[in-house]
Amino acid sequence: MINRCFCCVTGGDSDPEPAATSSRRRTNPARASKNRTSVDYPWETYTLKELLQATGNFSESNKLGEGGFGTVYWGRTSKGVEIAVKRLKAMTAKAEMEFAVEVEILGRVRHRNLLSLRGFYAGGDERLIVYDYMPNHSLLTHLHPHRGTPSSHHHVPLEWPRRVAIAVGAAEGLSYLHHEASPHIIHRDIKASNVLLDAEFVPKVADFGFAKLIPDGVSHLTTRVKGTLGYLAPEYAMWGKVSESCDVYSFGVLLLELVSARRPLEKLPGGVKREIVQWAAPLAERRRWERLADPRLAGRFDAAQLRAVVETAMLCTQSSAESRPAMAEVVDMLRFSGGERRTKEIVPVAVTVAGSSDEITTTTDLDDVTAGSSEPLDRRNWKLTRLR
Ligand SMILES: Nc1ncnc2c1ncn2[C@@H]1O[C@H](COP(=O)(O)OP(=O)(O)OP(=O)(O)O)[C@@H](O)[C@H]1O
Ligand SMILES: [Mg+2]
Repeated sequence: MINRCFCCVTGGDSDPEPAATSSRRRTNPARASKNRTSVDYPWETYTLKELLQATGNFSESNKLGEGGFGTVYWGRTSKGVEIAVKRLKAMTAKAEMEFAVEVEILGRVRHRNLLSLRGFYAGGDERLIVYDYMPNHSLLTHLHPHRGTPSSHHHVPLEWPRRVAIAVGAAEGLSYLHHEASPHIIHRDIKASNVLLDAEFVPKVADFGFAKLIPDGVSHLTTRVKGTLGYLAPEYAMWGKVSESCDVYSFGVLLLELVSARRPLEKLPGGVKREIVQWAAPLAERRRWERLADPRLAGRFDAAQLRAVVETAMLCTQSSAESRPAMAEVVDMLRFSGGERRTKEIVPVAVTVAGSSDEITTTTDLDDVTAGSSEPLDRRNWKLTRLR
């Protein structure tokens, strides 16, 4: 289905119009076609000339960042509109599919918290995707400013209310993909660099190139593992089993990263790698919420909100996919900031492991937060209980 729709749009591999002959933007030919499919695409096609002019011939100084599948450039159109252009690296079959999926899926979704496609160019070896430019870049650049931050940008730490609003907004975008888009969409690459921030810091979940469309009635698919280390749900990393709850797990990791500004995967002295959940879980179980907060906040956070975000993250990152909440529930759990009263709380429960005590043990000196825990994650479980 994806390929068919994509080919309808691009006319296969051929350039639909010699790029340099016109700077006029055309509306999507799929719209004009009498034989079009039921999907009405809201995006437009651009000419190569237009995008070359907008980005200064993809000049190095216009580069915003580079990912696994392409380089992103800032540009300004002849009408003065700021855009971000993703230029796919090479037209391998894999990249071609990536482009097709992205165009197809972005054509289907419209939500305040999802980065919409503005348009695209497909011709010869070039595949270019045009998005709205997000002046506040990605969440990654704010949480870990030394990486991926253009040197011209000096970021002050994200204030607490902004972090909460980003958590809620990103959850709403993801909830839309899981529950409202038809067919449902699993993102499969939820991470800080894929949450972009507009001028008002409204979060926009981006990069649907890895997305998977789930037909109605199908609970999970088995697929080759894509995504980013540190964010992968265990059942997906180990067996390639993908379902909405894989996104929920990645979102839980993102929540912990958002509150703590720690990396999802940290290299400890000696080369051992530790996941953020392994670091956070012992602190959360001991209710040492304040130890989980980004030190750059210097105590400027709402303690009740911090606790609720961390508890939600703990539910999301449980090793059993069945125990994780749905994204719609995650949205509800996070919507406490506007004075909404919480009716439930989340508590850790010990899991009985044969031959061992089911008490939660923490051998770590909790004053030394870099030490964290090396306990296996599957001993941890959390549950929702109703508040009286
Ligand atoms: N619309 C946009 N507006 C502003 N900056 C953007 C936009 N899209 C992407 N970027 C920047 O470009 C960088 C690279 O994005 P890209 O999606 O290619 O890679 P990534 O997200 O780091 O990795 P991956 O390829 O795994 O998605 C992002 O980190 C972001 O800072
Ligand atoms: Mg990305």
